[in-house]
Amino acid sequence: MTNSPTHIQLIQPDDWHLHIRDGEVVKDVLADTARQFARAIIMPNLKPPVTTVALAKAYQSRIDANLKALGITNFLPLMILYLTDNTSAEEVRKAKAEGIAGFKLYPAGATTNSDAGVSDIKHCYQALEAMQVLGIPLLVHGEVTSADIDIFDREAVFIDTVLEPLRKDFPELKIVFEHITTKQAAHYVRDAAISKKNSIAATITPQHLLMNRNAIFAGGIRPHNYCLPVLKREEHRIALLEAATSGNARFFLGTDSAPHAKGAKEAACGCAGCYSAFNALGLYAEAFESVGKLDKLEGFASFFGPDFYGLPRNSKKITLAKQAQAIPVELPLGDATIVPLRAGETVAWSLV
Ligand code: NCD
Ligand code: ZN
Repeated sequence: MTNSPTHIQLIQPDDWHLHIRDGEVVKDVLADTARQFARAIIMPNLKPPVTTVALAKAYQSRIDANLKALGITNFLPLMILYLTDNTSAEEVRKAKAEGIAGFKLYPAGATTNSDAGVSDIKHCYQALEAMQVLGIPLLVHGEVTSADIDIFDREAVFIDTVLEPLRKDFPELKIVFEHITTKQAAHYVRDAAISKKNSIAATITPQHLLMNRNAIFAGGIRPHNYCLPVLKREEHRIALLEAATSGNARFFLGTDSAPHAKGAKEAACGCAGCYSAFNALGLYAEAFESVGKLDKLEGFASFFGPDFYGLPRNSKKITLAKQAQAIPVELPLGDATIVPLRAGETVAWSLV
């Protein structure tokens, strides 16, 4: 590969953190993801949340019906259960038997539709014990929720007060620290002691690799750049970019593409979430190219995720070209519209 290639070929990537919602909008957002990715971890923060195997199976069949209606035959949703204070060890065993890919820990109130989340991780110890034994990953929204902790510090405080104690109590539990946003998180995962099962990894979104918190306030408030955990200072963006492009298998792709209708974002109390699915791979390629590390994209996007989850790597290849793609100002979303990340601008790379 030359220093500035115009095309790169990679094994088809997967998205290890994705929101597609439910109902009418699914077909609109799913088509964008399925164009690029072979599989995606489907987040369970619906209303009501996907807390049981039965609910996950029902959700999966609704997704399958949408795939069928779209004529998509080469995309696999990976289902996740929403952990609550009441999740039983029995439900964990059932989840394992039924091929559920993991459980998601939302501290109660941390983000969109997390009211039913965990109020105290100690309530989940029997479920966590079962997950550790069975090798089912725990996916973590890593922010504390108390209003007296500054919003920009909530991830770092979570590491010290929740994650580190949790890892001490469950040293072999597989944990994915989702959508990390800080230098502290990147370094914590990089430096975490490796247990027999190499138990911790992290996903990183395109927006946290490409933008810092100034992007939320550039010339006025920019609701479409607001997500949780919120964008941080430039030093954090640099640390995340370094982690993602380091070739370290503990860091892999998870877009956290989180659709909200335009009206729900452009509001007095706008929802958190960036819709990056339209050309997520182009955004990641831009980020990797910015530090001359396009050669590290394939590991991050296509290898390290399935390796961590114990799933086979994909075999099909895709090609990205350095060809600017215009991002529409709005896209259809059920009866409404959505404003994608980079709306009205271009992304330097696109899928061939
Ligand atoms: C997500 C959503 O809208 O569901 N929002 C976000 O800002 N990332 C929830 C989440 O992953 O925190
Ligand atoms: Zn998310």
